[in-house]
Amino acid sequence: MFPKKLQKKIDNRKAHNALRTLKNESNLVDFSSNDYLGFAKNESIFDSAHNYLTGHNIKQNGATGSRLLSGNHNLYPVVENILANFHDSESALIFNSGYNANVGFFSAVPQKDDIILYDELSHASIRDGIALSHAKAYKFKHNNLEELEQLIRRHSELVSKSHSHIYIVTESVFSMDGDSPNLVKLSELCKKQNAYLVVDEAHAIGVFGNKGEGLVQHLKLETEVFARLVTFGKALGCHGAAILGSEQLKQYLINFSRSFIYTTGLAPHTLSTIQSAYSEITVTDQRRKLFQNIVYFKNGILNNKLQDVFIESHSAIHCCIISGNENVKYISKKLQGKGYDVKPILSPTVPEGQERLRFCLHSYNSEKEIVEVLALLATFVSS
Ligand SMILES: Cc1ncc(COP(=O)(O)O)c(C=O)c1O
Repeated sequence: MFPKKLQKKIDNRKAHNALRTLKNESNLVDFSSNDYLGFAKNESIFDSAHNYLTGHNIKQNGATGSRLLSGNHNLYPVVENILANFHDSESALIFNSGYNANVGFFSAVPQKDDIILYDELSHASIRDGIALSHAKAYKFKHNNLEELEQLIRRHSELVSKSHSHIYIVTESVFSMDGDSPNLVKLSELCKKQNAYLVVDEAHAIGVFGNKGEGLVQHLKLETEVFARLVTFGKALGCHGAAILGSEQLKQYLINFSRSFIYTTGLAPHTLSTIQSAYSEITVTDQRRKLFQNIVYFKNGILNNKLQDVFIESHSAIHCCIISGNENVKYISKKLQGKGYDVKPILSPTVPEGQERLRFCLHSYNSEKEIVEVLALLATFVSS
């Protein structure tokens, strides 16, 4: 017995060539993981996380409860201090994942009568958090600051009358496009309009900044931003996330963020791995290799005359628009058949017509792999 309505939804997904399925790990050349610096498989991070635990006699598998009850083990304040220092923030509050952090932040912080203005391509976790909020939310066209300014003006009278606040939400690197907003202009706009700026840095941490601090710090905007989300499941190669902001914000979230309160904390091993990854990130030359590959990939796009189908990006994410689920799946399968793991991003994850191949670049991709995969792609895209 399975509810008919649900079966119909699955059938509908199949009919649109959009059924999601779980794939097993492959041995293909990695152009799809978020492990930009190879940290997920970095043995010295693994060993130092393990050695720290044994050296401090922390032989505990799980957190044992919510952080507000029994789960706030000693590594939490240690790692939160490291994060706050590294990211030049007054405080850091660790959540179990970036998804949890965004849902917990947006459902708790903007209040009824407040206004949330968010980029239309914001990650699902931001949109889910906003859906749980009592504030009014409006999206603006992707990276379009003119439209954002118009939206602010439209609401400014209401804001001044009702003492409500405006929250403006963006990502420093967009997960499905790889591009970035003009954060300098955006923060000036927020300052001018007394709006609170929130930046999701999930795909910028480890990639941008001399030490991988992210784009906000790279641009020296940390004091202009109300809250930053950093996640550890991407370039840091492990798991978890943190909200960076003031001590008051931290105190507020501890008290009101339900995805923080009503869940078991992370295991000490996870925290120890985050700690090790943060010490590796400052000394690594993996970032230099990653950027060499980004430059190499961008040159490859030009050499293969693919610039019209790729979204302009300076990050580790490069997307080639191939309209239609069937088309993008076909080309992805062909590339996979030749040994390259390039994933198709289908609608409804992205808007219909904007389906794409998403290339994630890594420090460990070779120039040969980049040359070959782009040459191969060119044969499909031009034919
Ligand atoms: C922009 C962005 N924010 C948040 C998340 C969620 O992070 P996590 O994977 O830690 O839940 C992701 C991951 O997909 C993301 O791309």
